[in-house]
Amino acid sequence: MTKSGKVFIAFFICLLIAGYVMASPILQLFYQDAEPYRFTGYAFTAEFDPIKIAETSDVPDGSGYSFSVKLNLPFAGPQKVRQDIYGIITNVDGEYHAYSAVCPHLGCIVRWDDDQAPEEKIFCNCHNGAFNPVNGDVTAGPPPRGLDIYEIFIEGDDILLKSLTGGEE
Ligand code: FES
Repeated sequence: MTKSGKVFIAFFICLLIAGYVMASPILQLFYQDAEPYRFTGYAFTAEFDPIKIAETSDVPDGSGYSFSVKLNLPFAGPQKVRQDIYGIITNVDGEYHAYSAVCPHLGCIVRWDDDQAPEEKIFCNCHNGAFNPVNGDVTAGPPPRGLDIYEIFIEGDDILLKSLTGGEE
């Protein structure tokens, strides 16, 4: 192959890559699995086909259960990225609740802690932040707000995640 032929092929490949990079935000609009969503500042609510995140036997009364799931979620404007979502399910007196497990203080992952007081069972080890397992409200430590609430429902023995909120106002 001649030198000019190689230059042409290199130029053509660069053109294809540049075209893909520029078109990918548009293409993502057609391949979404979390619909619909809305932004308020950087905050968002995402709804999607329900996803099984646990079984009721995983979360006996008076306990918490950590889970993670991958979802395509809003990132910036209409763009979405595949994200790992970390959450915690609680069972208090037979009522199930689910929250983001990301601490609103500095982003550590919270967990269930049997050694804490009843209203502080969701605990963040990083700076001793605590949250109420019934409503996600902050009950101790430096977190500036409660945990983001995830919407779940029970179907048979399964606990399914239906929607979630994230981001900041
Ligand atoms: S990161 Fe959770 S209390 Fe600081």
